[in-house]
Amino acid sequence: MAGEPQAVSRSIRRAVLILGLGASLLAQATSAGSILEFDVWMQKIDRHSQTILTHLKRHDAPAAVADAKALEHFYGLMERFYEARGEHDDPLLLSYDGRERAAAAARQAAQGDFDGAFESALGIARDCRACHDRFKPIKSL
Ligand code: HEC
Repeated sequence: MAGEPQAVSRSIRRAVLILGLGASLLAQATSAGSILEFDVWMQKIDRHSQTILTHLKRHDAPAAVADAKALEHFYGLMERFYEARGEHDDPLLLSYDGRERAAAAARQAAQGDFDGAFESALGIARDCRACHDRFKPIKSL
């Protein structure tokens, strides 16, 4: 009987600890994107990096610009993800380069410079492996 209140307060303490831990994990996940979200971004990057080439070959400017803007958006999210992890090294630079190239591709396609936009998009596709070879999968910090 004497031990009971102690046991209760212990389990309350544990519950509070778990709640706090959950909240801080959640805050981390929503601030700069979780690893789960990262996979979704990658799937979108994968798709748009292919469809942009098809759209550019067909000289379909609106569709190519939409792809380029999507790539710019998702590379931007990836850039923020690496920035928040404090990885101010190659993965951050590769994300930055990809975002810049996507922005260039959007500008070029909008101006009807399909060859220029194609080169920019190819540059994005060439760098996938540069990042994957060294930084895939994401290491836990
Ligand atoms: C700056 C780094 C970086 C760049 C650039 C990059 N990726 Fe990734 N990619 C990753 C990492 C890291 C993972 C693994 C994520 C994990 O650990 O869950 C990944 C995973 C993937 C996956 C698997 C996703 C899944 O559902 O598991 C695909 C597909 C993918 N990338 C495609 C691409 C394509 C296509 C490009 C280029 C157009 C590209 N990536 C550019 C870092 C990058």
